[in-house]
Amino acid sequence: MTSRNLPEADDAALAGTVNLADIETLGRSRLDRNALEYISSGANDEVTLHANREAFRRARLRPRVLVDVSDVSTRTTVLGVDLDLPVGIAPSAFHGLAHPSAELGTAGAAHAEGSLFALSTFSNTSIEDVARVVPGRFWFQLYVYRDREVSAALVRRAEAAGARALVVTVDAPYVGRREPNERHRFGLPPHLGVPNAASREALAALESSSGSQLVNYFQGLVDRRFTWRDVAWLRELTTLPIVLKGVLTAEDALLAVEHGCHVWVSNHGGRQLDTAVSALEALPEVADAVAGRAEVYLDGGVTRGTDVVKAVALGARCVFLGRAAQWGLAAAGEAGVRRTLALLRDELTLALALCGHPDVTRLPRDLVRL
Ligand code: GLV
Repeated sequence: MTSRNLPEADDAALAGTVNLADIETLGRSRLDRNALEYISSGANDEVTLHANREAFRRARLRPRVLVDVSDVSTRTTVLGVDLDLPVGIAPSAFHGLAHPSAELGTAGAAHAEGSLFALSTFSNTSIEDVARVVPGRFWFQLYVYRDREVSAALVRRAEAAGARALVVTVDAPYVGRREPNERHRFGLPPHLGVPNAASREALAALESSSGSQLVNYFQGLVDRRFTWRDVAWLRELTTLPIVLKGVLTAEDALLAVEHGCHVWVSNHGGRQLDTAVSALEALPEVADAVAGRAEVYLDGGVTRGTDVVKAVALGARCVFLGRAAQWGLAAAGEAGVRRTLALLRDELTLALALCGHPDVTRLPRDLVRL
């Protein structure tokens, strides 16, 4: 169970945070081991998990001076949705582990801060309930099940609820081995449901008592035979834009564009293939391959406004927060995620001004030295 303090204590502690690292410390302090290990762990030795952050730290900015920066804009447009900042909330499972408000907290914060919410198939809140909080301003993430009818029904529900894009996670035919979750048998607390994926098979897998429940769940349901050929099936199924999340190479980026998809550079927060290339390092080759024919996004290691600047300059239209949003949610529910986004927006505004590039949609690639 998630341990909770009084709301007043939440407010006071949150008000004392000045950056995302502070919010992470606060968020971690409010979680039990099961939730903390689920959110924080990466695969195996967590090399890629740390490399994501390290790549942002290593990349250097080349600022220009004597530019009028009295007016700085962080606004952008992502697949036709206007955003106040090029930062969205990545799809991640089971927000109810972090806070009782679950996805309603994260989605509500995204909406209030002019961000974009991407809802996971494995959410603790239904598509329809989330849609009410973020009308017309959310994406739906899909894992393709062996039973295609189950997937097709989810896509139809997401469309009917007003999703603006379908995000297909392509880097997880199997779940990466997150050893703390194996060691302590990660399990979803019984009070949390999985309303988008509540087939009898799914629930049986979640009740299984050996190893990580997520691994059991995947084993039973997710289609490991899903290939590029099947992307055409999805393309036929929906008129929504399709975003392939988990692309790390120019070769796959080209295929994605050929299949009419947008490209999300991600290594799943270092939770899948350990020692895979960091997201920021993969971004330039992906952006080159796409060459403006589709939108490109990135998640993995973003915790600073300067990180946003670097990713956008190197070709991402927008970046997404995975763990960072969960730390905010754990720290203080919707208010914690709002603070996370607000701090990032303030840092981004200052970084753009100090870079001498006041418009986030017009950043040159040579602003960054990798
Ligand atoms: C699910 O996709 C996870 O990374 O835990």
